[in-house]
Amino acid sequence: MKTPNDRTSQASQQDELVDFLRQLPKAELHVHIEGTLEPELMFTLAERNGVSLPYRNVAELRAAYDFQDLGSFLELYYAGAQVLITKQDFYDMTWAYLQRAHEDGIVHTEIMFDPQTHTRRGIALETVFAGIADALRDAHRRWGLSSRMILSFLRDLSEQDAFITLNKALPLRQEYGDLWTAIGLDSAELGNLPEKFVHVFAQCAHLGFRLVAHAGEEGPAEYVHNALDVLHVERIDHGVRSEEDPALLHRIIDNRIPMTVCPLSNIRLGVFPSMADHSVVRLLRRGATVTLNSDDPAYFGGYLVDNFLACVTELGLTRDECRQLARNSIQASFLPDDAKQALLSAQTAEQAYQHNTVL
Ligand code: ADE
Ligand code: ZN
Repeated sequence: MKTPNDRTSQASQQDELVDFLRQLPKAELHVHIEGTLEPELMFTLAERNGVSLPYRNVAELRAAYDFQDLGSFLELYYAGAQVLITKQDFYDMTWAYLQRAHEDGIVHTEIMFDPQTHTRRGIALETVFAGIADALRDAHRRWGLSSRMILSFLRDLSEQDAFITLNKALPLRQEYGDLWTAIGLDSAELGNLPEKFVHVFAQCAHLGFRLVAHAGEEGPAEYVHNALDVLHVERIDHGVRSEEDPALLHRIIDNRIPMTVCPLSNIRLGVFPSMADHSVVRLLRRGATVTLNSDDPAYFGGYLVDNFLACVTELGLTRDECRQLARNSIQASFLPDDAKQALLSAQTAEQAYQHNTVL
Protein backbone atom coordinates (compact mmCIF):
# COMPACT_ATOMS: atom_id res chain seq x y z
CA MET A 1 0.00 0.00 0.00
CA LYS A 2 1.27 3.51 -0.85
CA THR A 3 1.97 5.81 2.08
CA PRO A 4 1.30 9.57 1.91
CA ASN A 5 5.11 9.99 1.69
CA ASP A 6 5.31 7.75 -1.39
CA ARG A 7 2.56 9.77 -3.00
CA THR A 8 4.31 13.07 -2.25
CA SER A 9 7.55 11.81 -3.70
CA GLN A 10 5.76 10.47 -6.80
CA ALA A 11 4.09 13.84 -7.27
CA SER A 12 7.37 15.70 -6.97
CA GLN A 13 9.03 13.32 -9.46
CA GLN A 14 6.20 14.02 -11.87
CA ASP A 15 6.60 17.79 -11.37
CA GLU A 16 10.32 17.52 -12.00
CA LEU A 17 9.68 15.51 -15.20
CA VAL A 18 7.19 18.11 -16.43
CA ASP A 19 9.73 20.86 -15.70
CA PHE A 20 12.39 18.97 -17.63
CA LEU A 21 10.07 18.51 -20.61
CA ARG A 22 8.94 22.13 -20.57
CA GLN A 23 12.42 23.59 -20.53
CA LEU A 24 13.53 21.52 -23.55
CA PRO A 25 13.60 23.96 -26.48
CA LYS A 26 11.53 22.25 -29.15
CA ALA A 27 9.42 22.76 -32.25
CA GLU A 28 5.90 21.60 -32.97
CA LEU A 29 5.49 20.65 -36.63
CA HIS A 30 2.03 19.10 -36.71
CA VAL A 31 -0.80 21.02 -35.14
CA HIS A 32 -4.08 22.03 -36.80
CA ILE A 33 -4.93 25.47 -35.54
CA GLU A 34 -8.67 24.68 -35.73
CA GLY A 35 -7.91 21.67 -33.51
CA THR A 36 -6.65 23.95 -30.74
CA LEU A 37 -10.08 25.52 -30.23
CA GLU A 38 -10.91 24.64 -26.62
CA PRO A 39 -14.59 24.10 -25.72
CA GLU A 40 -14.60 27.19 -23.44
CA LEU A 41 -13.43 29.45 -26.26
CA MET A 42 -15.81 27.72 -28.68
CA PHE A 43 -18.71 28.70 -26.41
CA THR A 44 -17.41 32.27 -26.04
CA LEU A 45 -17.13 32.69 -29.81
CA ALA A 46 -20.52 31.06 -30.42
CA GLU A 47 -22.10 33.58 -28.08
CA ARG A 48 -20.14 36.49 -29.53
CA ASN A 49 -21.24 35.58 -33.07
CA GLY A 50 -24.78 34.37 -32.35
CA VAL A 51 -23.96 30.83 -33.55
CA SER A 52 -25.92 28.10 -31.83
CA LEU A 53 -24.14 24.94 -30.73
CA PRO A 54 -26.02 21.67 -30.25
CA TYR A 55 -24.71 21.41 -26.65
CA ARG A 56 -25.99 23.11 -23.52
CA ASN A 57 -22.57 23.65 -21.96
CA VAL A 58 -18.84 22.91 -22.07
CA ALA A 59 -19.21 19.64 -20.14
CA GLU A 60 -21.77 18.33 -22.62
CA LEU A 61 -19.53 19.29 -25.54
CA ARG A 62 -16.50 17.61 -23.98
CA ALA A 63 -18.56 14.49 -23.34
CA ALA A 64 -19.24 14.31 -27.09
CA TYR A 65 -15.49 13.93 -27.76
CA ASP A 66 -15.76 10.17 -27.75
CA PHE A 67 -14.38 9.28 -31.17
CA GLN A 68 -14.42 5.91 -32.88
CA ASP A 69 -12.15 6.89 -35.73
CA LEU A 70 -10.88 9.80 -37.83
CA GLY A 71 -14.27 10.27 -39.53
CA SER A 72 -16.23 10.67 -36.32
CA PHE A 73 -13.65 13.18 -35.06
CA LEU A 74 -13.65 15.22 -38.28
CA GLU A 75 -17.43 15.63 -38.12
CA LEU A 76 -17.18 17.37 -34.74
CA TYR A 77 -14.05 19.27 -35.69
CA TYR A 78 -15.64 20.85 -38.78
CA ALA A 79 -18.83 21.61 -36.82
CA GLY A 80 -16.77 23.31 -34.08
CA ALA A 81 -14.95 25.51 -36.61
CA GLN A 82 -18.27 27.16 -37.54
CA VAL A 83 -17.98 29.55 -34.59
CA LEU A 84 -14.96 31.20 -36.28
CA ILE A 85 -16.27 34.21 -38.18
CA THR A 86 -14.13 37.32 -37.66
CA LYS A 87 -10.43 38.10 -37.79
CA GLN A 88 -10.53 38.52 -34.00
CA ASP A 89 -11.89 34.96 -33.63
CA PHE A 90 -8.97 33.54 -35.61
CA TYR A 91 -6.61 35.73 -33.60
CA ASP A 92 -8.03 34.62 -30.25
CA MET A 93 -7.86 30.93 -31.14
CA THR A 94 -4.28 31.21 -32.40
CA TRP A 95 -3.17 33.34 -29.45
CA ALA A 96 -4.58 30.83 -26.96
CA TYR A 97 -2.56 28.08 -28.64
CA LEU A 98 0.60 30.19 -28.69
CA GLN A 99 0.36 30.96 -24.99
CA ARG A 100 0.05 27.25 -24.30
CA ALA A 101 2.89 26.48 -26.72
CA HIS A 102 5.14 29.00 -24.96
CA GLU A 103 4.37 27.41 -21.57
CA ASP A 104 5.34 24.05 -23.05
CA GLY A 105 8.74 25.36 -24.17
CA ILE A 106 7.91 25.44 -27.88
CA VAL A 107 10.29 27.87 -29.58
CA HIS A 108 9.08 27.31 -33.13
CA THR A 109 5.74 26.10 -34.47
CA GLU A 110 4.49 25.16 -37.93
CA ILE A 111 0.73 25.34 -37.83
CA MET A 112 -1.66 23.86 -40.37
CA PHE A 113 -4.83 25.64 -41.29
CA ASP A 114 -7.69 24.51 -43.53
CA PRO A 115 -8.95 27.47 -45.63
CA GLN A 116 -11.68 25.39 -47.29
CA THR A 117 -13.34 24.77 -43.91
CA HIS A 118 -13.92 28.52 -43.75
CA THR A 119 -14.31 29.68 -47.37
CA ARG A 120 -17.12 27.17 -47.93
CA ARG A 121 -19.01 28.96 -45.12
CA GLY A 122 -18.48 32.31 -46.79
CA ILE A 123 -15.55 33.51 -44.65
CA ALA A 124 -12.99 35.49 -46.66
CA LEU A 125 -9.55 33.95 -46.93
CA GLU A 126 -8.04 37.31 -45.97
CA THR A 127 -9.87 37.12 -42.61
CA VAL A 128 -8.40 33.69 -41.89
CA PHE A 129 -4.85 34.68 -42.86
CA ALA A 130 -4.94 38.02 -41.06
CA GLY A 131 -6.23 36.69 -37.72
CA ILE A 132 -3.77 33.79 -37.59
CA ALA A 133 -0.78 35.81 -38.86
CA ASP A 134 -1.31 38.71 -36.43
CA ALA A 135 -1.18 36.31 -33.49
CA LEU A 136 1.92 34.57 -34.86
CA ARG A 137 3.68 37.91 -35.30
CA ASP A 138 2.70 39.01 -31.79
CA ALA A 139 4.15 35.78 -30.34
CA HIS A 140 7.39 36.39 -32.21
CA ARG A 141 7.61 39.93 -30.83
CA ARG A 142 6.72 38.88 -27.31
CA TRP A 143 8.64 35.63 -26.79
CA GLY A 144 10.78 35.21 -29.91
CA LEU A 145 8.56 32.23 -30.75
CA SER A 146 8.91 31.77 -34.53
CA SER A 147 6.37 30.13 -36.79
CA ARG A 148 5.26 29.09 -40.25
CA MET A 149 1.81 28.54 -41.74
CA ILE A 150 1.02 25.34 -43.67
CA LEU A 151 -1.99 25.86 -45.91
CA SER A 152 -3.61 22.43 -46.05
CA PHE A 153 -5.99 21.14 -48.70
CA LEU A 154 -8.92 18.98 -47.64
CA ARG A 155 -8.40 15.68 -49.41
CA ASP A 156 -12.08 14.70 -49.35
CA LEU A 157 -12.73 17.64 -51.70
CA SER A 158 -11.61 17.68 -55.33
CA GLU A 159 -8.25 18.68 -56.75
CA GLN A 160 -10.11 21.42 -58.61
CA ASP A 161 -11.30 22.83 -55.28
CA ALA A 162 -7.69 22.78 -54.07
CA PHE A 163 -6.62 24.74 -57.16
CA ILE A 164 -9.37 27.31 -56.55
CA THR A 165 -8.18 27.70 -52.95
CA LEU A 166 -4.54 28.04 -54.02
CA ASN A 167 -5.40 30.67 -56.62
CA LYS A 168 -7.45 32.65 -54.09
CA ALA A 169 -4.60 32.51 -51.59
CA LEU A 170 -1.72 33.40 -53.90
CA PRO A 171 -2.36 37.18 -53.90
CA LEU A 172 -1.98 37.06 -50.09
CA ARG A 173 1.53 35.69 -50.42
CA GLN A 174 2.89 39.20 -50.72
CA GLU A 175 1.66 40.10 -47.25
CA TYR A 176 2.06 36.74 -45.52
CA GLY A 177 4.88 35.10 -47.49
CA ASP A 178 7.24 35.25 -44.50
CA LEU A 179 4.85 32.90 -42.64
CA TRP A 180 3.00 30.97 -45.32
CA THR A 181 5.76 28.82 -46.80
CA ALA A 182 4.28 25.34 -46.95
CA ILE A 183 1.40 23.27 -48.27
CA GLY A 184 -0.20 20.25 -46.60
CA LEU A 185 -2.92 17.65 -47.18
CA ASP A 186 -5.34 16.53 -44.47
CA SER A 187 -8.89 15.38 -43.66
CA ALA A 188 -10.38 11.92 -44.40
CA GLU A 189 -7.54 9.75 -45.64
CA LEU A 190 -9.06 6.41 -46.65
CA GLY A 191 -10.16 6.47 -50.29
CA ASN A 192 -8.65 9.93 -50.89
CA LEU A 193 -5.30 8.91 -52.33
CA PRO A 194 -2.30 11.22 -52.56
CA GLU A 195 -2.41 10.75 -56.37
CA LYS A 196 -5.65 12.76 -56.46
CA PHE A 197 -3.58 15.92 -55.77
CA VAL A 198 -0.61 15.33 -58.07
CA HIS A 199 -1.16 18.40 -60.25
CA VAL A 200 -1.83 20.90 -57.48
CA PHE A 201 1.16 19.69 -55.46
CA ALA A 202 3.37 19.95 -58.58
CA GLN A 203 2.16 23.52 -59.04
CA CYS A 204 2.88 24.34 -55.38
CA ALA A 205 6.41 22.90 -55.69
CA HIS A 206 6.91 25.00 -58.82
CA LEU A 207 5.84 28.07 -56.82
CA GLY A 208 8.51 27.32 -54.22
CA PHE A 209 6.37 25.97 -51.36
CA ARG A 210 7.63 23.25 -49.02
CA LEU A 211 5.37 20.18 -49.09
CA VAL A 212 3.97 17.87 -46.43
CA ALA A 213 1.01 15.46 -46.36
CA HIS A 214 -0.86 13.30 -43.89
CA ALA A 215 -0.26 9.68 -44.84
CA GLY A 216 -0.26 6.35 -43.03
CA GLU A 217 -2.58 7.57 -40.25
CA GLU A 218 -5.66 5.50 -41.17
CA GLY A 219 -4.46 4.76 -44.69
CA PRO A 220 -2.01 1.93 -45.45
CA ALA A 221 1.75 2.18 -46.03
CA GLU A 222 1.10 2.49 -49.78
CA TYR A 223 -0.27 6.00 -49.18
CA VAL A 224 3.06 6.97 -47.61
CA HIS A 225 4.94 5.63 -50.65
CA ASN A 226 2.73 7.68 -52.92
CA ALA A 227 2.94 10.84 -50.84
CA LEU A 228 6.73 10.56 -51.29
CA ASP A 229 6.84 9.40 -54.92
CA VAL A 230 3.86 11.18 -56.43
CA LEU A 231 3.47 14.32 -54.31
CA HIS A 232 7.20 14.62 -53.46
CA VAL A 233 6.58 15.73 -49.89
CA GLU A 234 9.53 16.36 -47.55
CA ARG A 235 7.82 15.27 -44.34
CA ILE A 236 5.13 12.73 -43.59
CA ASP A 237 2.43 13.71 -41.12
CA HIS A 238 1.76 10.66 -38.92
CA GLY A 239 3.24 7.90 -41.10
CA VAL A 240 2.92 5.40 -38.26
CA ARG A 241 1.53 2.68 -40.51
CA SER A 242 4.85 2.70 -42.43
CA GLU A 243 5.94 0.08 -39.92
CA GLU A 244 3.78 -2.41 -41.84
CA ASP A 245 6.10 -2.20 -44.87
CA PRO A 246 9.74 -3.01 -44.00
CA ALA A 247 11.10 -1.68 -47.33
CA LEU A 248 9.28 1.62 -46.81
CA LEU A 249 10.52 1.92 -43.26
CA HIS A 250 14.10 1.35 -44.42
CA ARG A 251 13.65 4.07 -47.01
CA ILE A 252 12.32 6.48 -44.39
CA ILE A 253 15.18 5.71 -42.01
CA ASP A 254 17.94 5.75 -44.63
CA ASN A 255 16.76 9.01 -46.18
CA ARG A 256 16.02 10.66 -42.84
CA ILE A 257 12.48 11.52 -43.92
CA PRO A 258 10.84 13.14 -40.89
CA MET A 259 7.58 11.76 -39.55
CA THR A 260 5.47 14.07 -37.40
CA VAL A 261 3.91 11.60 -34.97
CA CYS A 262 0.97 12.44 -32.68
CA PRO A 263 0.63 9.72 -30.02
CA LEU A 264 -2.40 10.97 -28.06
CA SER A 265 -4.27 11.64 -31.30
CA ASN A 266 -3.56 8.10 -32.52
CA ILE A 267 -4.96 6.62 -29.32
CA ARG A 268 -8.08 8.78 -29.34
CA LEU A 269 -8.76 7.90 -32.99
CA GLY A 270 -8.12 4.18 -32.57
CA VAL A 271 -5.01 4.01 -34.79
CA PHE A 272 -3.46 1.94 -31.97
CA PRO A 273 -5.54 0.12 -29.32
CA SER A 274 -3.56 1.66 -26.43
CA MET A 275 -0.43 3.73 -25.68
CA ALA A 276 1.40 0.49 -24.83
CA ASP A 277 1.00 -0.54 -28.48
CA HIS A 278 2.16 2.76 -29.99
CA SER A 279 5.08 2.48 -32.42
CA VAL A 280 6.75 5.85 -31.80
CA VAL A 281 9.50 4.70 -29.46
CA ARG A 282 10.16 1.58 -31.56
CA LEU A 283 10.52 3.82 -34.64
CA LEU A 284 12.85 6.20 -32.82
CA ARG A 285 15.05 3.33 -31.58
CA ARG A 286 15.28 1.94 -35.11
CA GLY A 287 16.70 5.29 -36.21
CA ALA A 288 13.69 6.99 -37.78
CA THR A 289 13.57 10.79 -37.67
CA VAL A 290 10.39 11.05 -35.64
CA THR A 291 9.06 14.15 -33.91
CA LEU A 292 6.30 14.41 -31.31
CA ASN A 293 3.29 16.64 -31.89
CA SER A 294 -0.20 17.32 -30.57
CA ASP A 295 -2.30 17.33 -33.82
CA ASP A 296 -5.63 18.62 -32.36
CA PRO A 297 -4.85 19.15 -28.68
CA ALA A 298 -8.24 20.58 -27.69
CA TYR A 299 -9.91 17.38 -28.90
CA PHE A 300 -7.36 14.74 -27.93
CA GLY A 301 -6.71 15.60 -24.31
CA GLY A 302 -3.21 17.01 -24.45
CA TYR A 303 -0.69 19.52 -25.73
CA LEU A 304 2.90 18.79 -26.68
CA VAL A 305 4.31 18.17 -23.21
CA ASP A 306 1.37 15.84 -22.49
CA ASN A 307 2.39 13.80 -25.55
CA PHE A 308 5.98 13.59 -24.27
CA LEU A 309 4.72 12.62 -20.81
CA ALA A 310 2.58 9.80 -22.19
CA CYS A 311 5.61 8.39 -24.04
CA VAL A 312 7.83 8.64 -20.95
CA THR A 313 5.36 7.08 -18.54
CA GLU A 314 3.82 4.46 -20.83
CA LEU A 315 6.54 3.62 -23.33
CA GLY A 316 9.69 4.14 -21.27
CA LEU A 317 11.00 7.02 -23.39
CA THR A 318 14.27 8.13 -21.72
CA ARG A 319 15.43 11.70 -21.08
CA ASP A 320 18.11 11.39 -23.74
CA GLU A 321 15.44 10.25 -26.17
CA CYS A 322 13.31 13.28 -25.21
CA ARG A 323 16.30 15.47 -26.09
CA GLN A 324 16.71 13.59 -29.37
CA LEU A 325 13.04 14.15 -30.23
CA ALA A 326 13.40 17.85 -29.43
CA ARG A 327 16.51 18.06 -31.68
CA ASN A 328 14.69 16.17 -34.44
CA SER A 329 11.84 18.67 -34.31
CA ILE A 330 14.19 21.59 -34.89
CA GLN A 331 16.17 19.79 -37.58
CA ALA A 332 12.99 18.72 -39.42
CA SER A 333 11.50 22.21 -39.35
CA PHE A 334 11.35 24.57 -42.31
CA LEU A 335 13.59 27.12 -40.59
CA PRO A 336 16.75 28.23 -42.40
CA ASP A 337 19.93 26.48 -41.29
CA ASP A 338 21.30 29.38 -39.23
CA ALA A 339 18.08 29.61 -37.20
CA LYS A 340 18.12 25.83 -36.64
CA GLN A 341 21.72 26.03 -35.45
CA ALA A 342 20.86 28.83 -33.03
CA LEU A 343 18.01 26.79 -31.53
CA LEU A 344 20.12 23.64 -31.32
CA SER A 345 22.86 25.58 -29.51
CA ALA A 346 20.27 26.95 -27.09
CA GLN A 347 19.29 23.38 -26.37
CA THR A 348 22.89 22.34 -25.72
CA ALA A 349 23.36 25.31 -23.38
CA GLU A 350 20.15 24.45 -21.52
CA GLN A 351 21.31 20.87 -21.16
CA ALA A 352 24.68 21.93 -19.72
CA TYR A 353 22.86 24.21 -17.28
CA GLN A 354 20.52 21.39 -16.21
CA HIS A 355 23.45 19.03 -15.84
CA ASN A 356 25.32 21.49 -13.61
CA THR A 357 22.30 22.25 -11.44
CA VAL A 358 21.62 18.52 -10.98
CA LEU A 359 25.27 17.98 -10.00
N1 ADE B 1 -7.51 17.42 -39.66
C1 ADE B 1 -7.38 17.72 -38.37
N2 ADE B 1 -6.84 16.68 -37.71
C2 ADE B 1 -6.61 15.71 -38.61
C3 ADE B 1 -6.05 14.41 -38.54
N3 ADE B 1 -5.62 13.88 -37.40
N4 ADE B 1 -5.98 13.69 -39.68
C4 ADE B 1 -6.41 14.20 -40.83
N5 ADE B 1 -6.94 15.41 -40.95
C5 ADE B 1 -7.04 16.17 -39.84
ZN1 ZN C 1 -3.03 16.08 -38.38
